[in-house]
Amino acid sequence: MPIRMGRRNLLTVLPVIAAGLTASATRVAAQEAASPPGKRSDQTATSKTLVAFFSRTGNTRVIAGQIRRARDAALFEIKAAKPYPEDYEETVAQAARETSAGYLPPLGHFVADLRQYDTLYLGFPIWGMTAPPVIRSFLRGHDLSGKHVLPFITHGGYGLGDSMEVIRALAPAARVADPFSMEADQEKRTLQQVSGWLSA
Ligand SMILES: Cc1cc2nc3c(=O)[nH]c(=O)nc-3n(C[C@H](O)[C@H](O)[C@H](O)COP(=O)(O)O)c2cc1C
Repeated sequence: MPIRMGRRNLLTVLPVIAAGLTASATRVAAQEAASPPGKRSDQTATSKTLVAFFSRTGNTRVIAGQIRRARDAALFEIKAAKPYPEDYEETVAQAARETSAGYLPPLGHFVADLRQYDTLYLGFPIWGMTAPPVIRSFLRGHDLSGKHVLPFITHGGYGLGDSMEVIRALAPAARVADPFSMEADQEKRTLQQVSGWLSA
């Protein structure tokens, strides 16, 4: 079964601003890709690409790395200022609480000089049939007006939920492409299988 939570109307949660969202977090330069000599780039001299992603168990991170190499892009890892718990169930519960309250967890850091990028690959896993709260924080905390946003989304088999609506609502002036999405391993399934083995 998908991990469900009380899904409130998206618009009811948008106005809720978490204290500190824009407060003390630092701006950090994204890691620049090291271009191999002679590598062809499909970008123009003035066009720069950023790959920004959030990943808990690594599925989305692998895709981010591949995009980075293929597009000679810079890489930025989206993180909450206070990391999510290591425990899976605690993370599910916290994410459900945050999403239903419209809470935007403060970001650990912001992209420095976002103006230099005109293309943004945005990656995240589906949490509770929507985008993780920290992705809402990222979208709220960065002005993506005029950017070409290409989402890449992983999920455990239950699809994208309302995540594309979230992106479009929180980046209304961006040009948002259809997403690349794929089913990937679920931590929950791994934990269940290992529990079965350990208790056999
Ligand atoms: C808190 C939490 C909630 C999740 N909720 C869903 C869900 O609603 N639907 C789904 O298909 N997968 C769900 N998953 C599975 C992840 O979307 C999937 O495993 C994803 O590929 C993880 O990406 P990552 O390794 O980059 O973190 C959830 C995972 C976590 C940790």
